[in-house]
Amino acid sequence: MNTTGIFYAPKGGSTEKIARKIHQHLPSAALKSVPEASVDDMMHYDNLILGIATIGKETWNQEIKKSGWDLVMPHIDKADFTGKKVAIFGLGDSVTYDLHFVDAVGILGQKLRERGAELVGFTDTKDYNFRESKAIEGDQFMGLPIDEDFEEEKTDERIDQWVKDLTKKMS
Ligand SMILES: Cc1cc2nc3c(=O)[nH]c(=O)nc-3n(C[C@H](O)[C@H](O)[C@H](O)COP(=O)(O)O)c2cc1C
Repeated sequence: MNTTGIFYAPKGGSTEKIARKIHQHLPSAALKSVPEASVDDMMHYDNLILGIATIGKETWNQEIKKSGWDLVMPHIDKADFTGKKVAIFGLGDSVTYDLHFVDAVGILGQKLRERGAELVGFTDTKDYNFRESKAIEGDQFMGLPIDEDFEEEKTDERIDQWVKDLTKKMS
């Protein structure tokens, strides 16, 4: 049977909340935060579900302390994800940051694809209001956007649909 690992960052906010909700749907999956869990740990699973928040650097006017995925990215650049199916969920805010909505999903997705991963779990853009996103490919997001700031009421349904789709693709 294929194994699945859910890896997420940052801890303590909406990304962790959503990671836990997804885990409730997939209780046999491992649930880990990064950078406490490493890219080497990811290598133990056939399927990966990765959770990331977009905190656009351009929205800050001060130096950001590196944390979470920032610390993991250099290791992803050297890893081989060939043969792994990877689905990404991304926390974002489609109102305040409508020109950069869930950009991190696209940035992480492109990196993983360059390292051999097969990306799964794309979602239609039509259910979302935003202007621009680096996470778009064709008319789909390269993962599942979740907006807990302005569309919290849509989250549970979005997760239900996405996980149903994933369990078919990752079996
Ligand atoms: C300083 C700052 C910058 C942000 N930049 C973006 C952004 O560029 N794009 C986006 O979609 N959301 C952006 N957001 C919204 C967050 O991604 C969103 O609130 C998310 O749920 C935070 O996840 P967390 O609670 O796990 O930290 C930003 C939030 C903050 C506080």
